[in-house]
Amino acid sequence: MPAITPAVDRTETVRHIRSFHARRSRIRPSAAAALDRLWPLWGIEIDADFNFAETFSSTDSVVLEIGCGMGDATVAMAAADPSTTILAVDVHTPGLGVLLRDSDRLGLQNVRVAECDAVTLLSEHIPHDALSGIRIYFPDPWPKQRQHKRRLIQPEFVALATSRLRPGGMFHCATDWRNYADQMLEVLDAEPLLRNNFEGFAPRPTWRPVTRFERKGIAVGHEINDLIFTRV
Ligand SMILES: C[S@@+](CC[C@H](N)C(=O)[O-])C[C@H]1O[C@@H](n2cnc3c(N)ncnc32)[C@H](O)[C@@H]1O
Repeated sequence: MPAITPAVDRTETVRHIRSFHARRSRIRPSAAAALDRLWPLWGIEIDADFNFAETFSSTDSVVLEIGCGMGDATVAMAAADPSTTILAVDVHTPGLGVLLRDSDRLGLQNVRVAECDAVTLLSEHIPHDALSGIRIYFPDPWPKQRQHKRRLIQPEFVALATSRLRPGGMFHCATDWRNYADQMLEVLDAEPLLRNNFEGFAPRPTWRPVTRFERKGIAVGHEINDLIFTRV
């Protein structure tokens, strides 16, 4: 693995995108119980004491999943590939409780969770060249033109996230909003440290499970687009 350098730069160049909705959701008893019982085992507090290199061994293959929601894709992908550790992050706790519950039911040992804003996590807590992959499945689409500035996939964010990938690491996005897919393609294509694995959009990978939000998009007739790029 390449030497890890401290995560200190670029914070000043990343305009903070508030990409998520402020919402209070109710938490089901089973998810609340899972949080209480399993957070001490698999949860990570992202604060000044968090140290990526101490939390994960240098030989770990760590994939960051941003906006894991209820974690259905997280759990299925972790079960399919025990050699990869998924660090699943979301800003909302109830989904993390469901994810911990379902991961525990399958006895998974390779899912870690954090409740935090991925922009802060990447800029302040994850070192350069540290991640084997980044997955961003069905990020909030912010469909109105005046909301587009809140979309996560923008040049500064992609530059930041790419800098945290190891060379050869995969940057994988999917969306059911066609104009967001076009924006993703334009932004990812323009990032000098990324190469598209395909011409334009990727064929739907059979190994990516259908997510909860994807299912909602399909139900209303949306086209699904995947984008798979590699860090050079
Ligand atoms: C539309 S949902 C998709 C959830 C899941 N990936 C799926 O496909 O079912 C987007 C998720 O991203 C989370 N999110 C948005 N911005 C985020 C950020 N900056 N950091 C972490 N999570 C974020 C939201 O809280 C929400 O759960």
